[in-house]
Amino acid sequence: MAKLLFQIAKPFLHKMDPESAHHMTLKALKTGVLPCPSHVNDPRLRVTLWNRKFPNPVGLAAGFDKNADVVAQMFAMGFGFVEAGTVTPKAQEGNPRPRVFREPTNEAVINRMGFPNGGAENFRRNIEKFLEHKPRPAGIVGINIGMNKGVEDPAKDYCTLVRLLGNYADYLTVNISSPNTPGLRNLQARENLMPLLARIMEERNKSCGKDDAPPLLVKLAPDLNDEQIKDVAACLIEAKVDGVILGNTTLDRPEYLPANFYEQQGGLSGRPLTQKSTDVIRKFYNHTEGKLPIIGAGGISSAQDAYAKIRAGASLVQIYTALVFQGPQLVHDLLIGLAQCLEKDGIDHISKATGKDT
Ligand SMILES: Cc1cc2nc3c(=O)[nH]c(=O)nc-3n(C[C@H](O)[C@H](O)[C@H](O)COP(=O)(O)O)c2cc1C
Repeated sequence: MAKLLFQIAKPFLHKMDPESAHHMTLKALKTGVLPCPSHVNDPRLRVTLWNRKFPNPVGLAAGFDKNADVVAQMFAMGFGFVEAGTVTPKAQEGNPRPRVFREPTNEAVINRMGFPNGGAENFRRNIEKFLEHKPRPAGIVGINIGMNKGVEDPAKDYCTLVRLLGNYADYLTVNISSPNTPGLRNLQARENLMPLLARIMEERNKSCGKDDAPPLLVKLAPDLNDEQIKDVAACLIEAKVDGVILGNTTLDRPEYLPANFYEQQGGLSGRPLTQKSTDVIRKFYNHTEGKLPIIGAGGISSAQDAYAKIRAGASLVQIYTALVFQGPQLVHDLLIGLAQCLEKDGIDHISKATGKDT
């Protein structure tokens, strides 16, 4: 039913400007009228990480639910975890529209949104509403945090968000890799990264209690070169963060993309990113000798893509762009497909596939 409805709705949605289509989807999700694909409940796919139980390893990547409006609805879609955000301390409008562009032939998107969101207070109200659900839906909630545009002290913004929202999160993601906030990606350089992480870790331990504090993850760009990957990997281990998300959108523009799409500024996601992000995961896993859990993201549009990222070193995976082109049925299909990949390889649990290819 979910598949059929998406097949009917897709031509209308894809005639609209992508952002309007997204807002319409969020509205429909909020009304609760959309049917959900049947759930996959397979013990081989349950993952325990950071002392948290993920019902399955497929998560919703940040950016889809920036204000934590539809967390419960995304769990109903079958996701094992939902990363809401990026949220910034103050509400902001982001870049002028249009700022999201679709390319159906390559199932790709370019966005230059620039963190439009309703700010931390609005986010907190929404997440409190979600937590009122009794029983709380099984599934892990990540909160992805970022800085407001133009701030002079980025660490202050991240610390504010840790203080305001840390206690609502099953994990926190420090986003330093969106290409659409000037200066953000510079935070990946060692001289900026180490002091930034020290302040955020200190704030987390102070605000959330050292023992049951949410794990802190850092989300990186897939555009780091080998030297940078090695250096950032060393920084993250040194700073004792809990995990890494690899990764965000890319600034690359493969030549086969049509000119009117190619020339748009912003971050590219979807199929053209698949191989690149898997390669970064493999390199990162090697440098860290598998000691730092990785959430793999970037162009996952089939179970084979997800499985390749897991075999390259990811413990969990996330999707966004493929959802735009394939609809909610994709979550179910990825999970069924992942179980089949395990069977084919004679592996009895998904966690044993992590890093198999390295
Ligand atoms: C329209 C759009 C908005 C996004 N917004 C965010 C964001 O706010 N924060 C973030 O960390 N990543 C954001 N992302 C990046 C995704 O979370 C993901 O890392 C990236 O798109 C690669 O995965 P995919 O190819 O499955 O989409 C956004 C992606 C898209 C397409």
